[in-house]
Amino acid sequence: MINVFQPALGAAELDAVAETFASNWLGYGPRAERFEAEFASHVGVPPENMIFINSATSGLFLAVELLGLSPGDEVVVPSEGFVANANVILTAGARPVFCDVDPRTLNPSAADVERAMSPRTRAVMVLHYGGYPGQIAEIAELCQRRGVTLIEDAACAPASSVDGRACGSFGDLAVWSFDSRKIITTGDGGMLYVRDPALARRANRLAYHGLEDRTAFTTAAKVSSRWWDLHVDEPGRRLIGNDMTAAIGSTQLRRMPEFLRRRREIVETYDALLRDVDGVRLPPPLPAGHVTSYYFYWVQMPAAIRDDVAEDMYKAGIYTTFRYAPLHHVPLFGGADLPGTEEATRTTLLLPLHQGLTDADVRLVAEQLRKAVESRSVAGRGD
Ligand SMILES: Cc1ncc(COP(=O)(O)O)c(C=O)c1O
Repeated sequence: MINVFQPALGAAELDAVAETFASNWLGYGPRAERFEAEFASHVGVPPENMIFINSATSGLFLAVELLGLSPGDEVVVPSEGFVANANVILTAGARPVFCDVDPRTLNPSAADVERAMSPRTRAVMVLHYGGYPGQIAEIAELCQRRGVTLIEDAACAPASSVDGRACGSFGDLAVWSFDSRKIITTGDGGMLYVRDPALARRANRLAYHGLEDRTAFTTAAKVSSRWWDLHVDEPGRRLIGNDMTAAIGSTQLRRMPEFLRRRREIVETYDALLRDVDGVRLPPPLPAGHVTSYYFYWVQMPAAIRDDVAEDMYKAGIYTTFRYAPLHHVPLFGGADLPGTEEATRTTLLLPLHQGLTDADVRLVAEQLRKAVESRSVAGRGD
């Protein structure tokens, strides 16, 4: 099978793991701190505001916890989002209010977000669909104007930017994911960015048992006369990453430009090979100044044939999928009337996109898609 998502790991990552083994320190320590600093520098924010955690989901849980939400509080979030986006809001005791998306970009516009706001809105949580920044600058401006916290779910956007500003640095809080399907991976892992320095210090404590100074527990260093004493003012969790995964992360981050070059090449090849397929619409062009991480490549087609096309592709050894099954269809999360989301959900299919695809794979995917769409369209017309 040709996978939709796949990591690219090799000798460099193995060397980094071997070096960590040799150091005999696998927990959070110097490599995790280095990875935090490297990623912060990549995003263009201070290192002390970046925390290496065990998943983006953990970061989202912590982000909403930091807001201190109460029952009746609302958080606006696109229904076209990851399941954790709604889970973390509900767990915090608040209510997710789903906003619509543009059916072509699958990102919400600032107007979509604003329409879902009410006097009870405490925060807005938006992702960057498939790494495409969307109207993040306008949404950040809206949140600032309305005095509402912006949480950026930049899980899929490690290299995305608008006018040179990195996605993840527009909001008050942001997360990135390094899970096993992401562009750069640590197996499991993520980063949490907290813009406000005092809140960042609190987030650091809450990410590790509420301990005021985690150094004594996470390194071999002697930090005080009785370094085993506890200083806990607020109960915390255990969400931090470790040196072994951080060593992989540093290596992957170094290799990311190479990954992005290949992903871009694949996207351009799909664009060229699929441009003239009748009934298929390609992802809309990026607005000026926008840079994507090329995480998803999606095509859109009549709803009547989408599932059959996916089935035909699967039988041809090509895995496709749809992200994200809309959250407002899940009864637990509550409903909404979202025409853009409904349209995108019925018509969109993600094609394989990862740096491990060969030119022959890409040609095969394009050929099979053309074949599937053309034959299913003909069948649908009853010819
Ligand atoms: C938009 C989005 N947010 C969050 C996550 C969760 O990331 P993690 O697996 O690191 O918790 C994902 C994972 O697929 C995602 O796509």
